[in-house]
Amino acid sequence: MSKALRVWLPDEAATVSAGNLLAAVVQSVSSAAGLVIFLHGTLGAGKTTFSRGFIRALGHEGAVKSPTYTLVEPYEQLTPATWHFDLYRLGDPEELEFMGIRDYLVPGNVCLVEWPERGAGILPTPDLELTLAPEGGGRSLIAEQRTEAGRVLLTRFHERLRSTAPFDGAMTETDLE
Ligand SMILES: Nc1ncnc2c1ncn2[C@@H]1O[C@H](COP(=O)(O)OP(=O)(O)OP(=O)(O)O)[C@@H](O)[C@H]1O
Ligand SMILES: [Mg+2]
Repeated sequence: MSKALRVWLPDEAATVSAGNLLAAVVQSVSSAAGLVIFLHGTLGAGKTTFSRGFIRALGHEGAVKSPTYTLVEPYEQLTPATWHFDLYRLGDPEELEFMGIRDYLVPGNVCLVEWPERGAGILPTPDLELTLAPEGGGRSLIAEQRTEAGRVLLTRFHERLRSTAPFDGAMTETDLE
């Protein structure tokens, strides 16, 4: 059985701030292993907005654009070093091998992956899977753990959300079979 968290994000600022909180959690986990976080959701669901919150919280001051054409944007100077993927335009999952995907998936790195479905078969099992969906003018965010590291991240993410407005009271935890 694994846990899933469901959070209501009323506006863009809430999506950014959820990304901020997850970045703080990632920094608090002294794991030597690399982390892979999948971001699911339809076009315009808020995946890049969340990623921007994450990357800015790690100290990046410039713009965070979706790497739609380049497929990946490096933020190597950050701690932890972060790679932001957008695989929407990936023709074939095997192209990831040519891009040198294995060089990114190493201990100490974080990979945020938008449109991970496009890399099925080549991408590894993620630690966390996040799903954003439009709902009543805002967004819902579902976070699911997929590994032991993901379990630790999800527990701490839950703790942070619980003590931060507007998330306190806008969250539920579910057991998944
Ligand atoms: N919680 C929210 N409530 C309302 N609007 C939001 C929320 N979060 C993000 N948005 C808005 O959703 C729009 C699309 O966001 P974003 O570009 O992050 O989507 P995306 O999932 O990355 O899309 P794509 O699949 O095209 O990469 C932006 O205009 C952003 O302001
Ligand atoms: Mg995007």
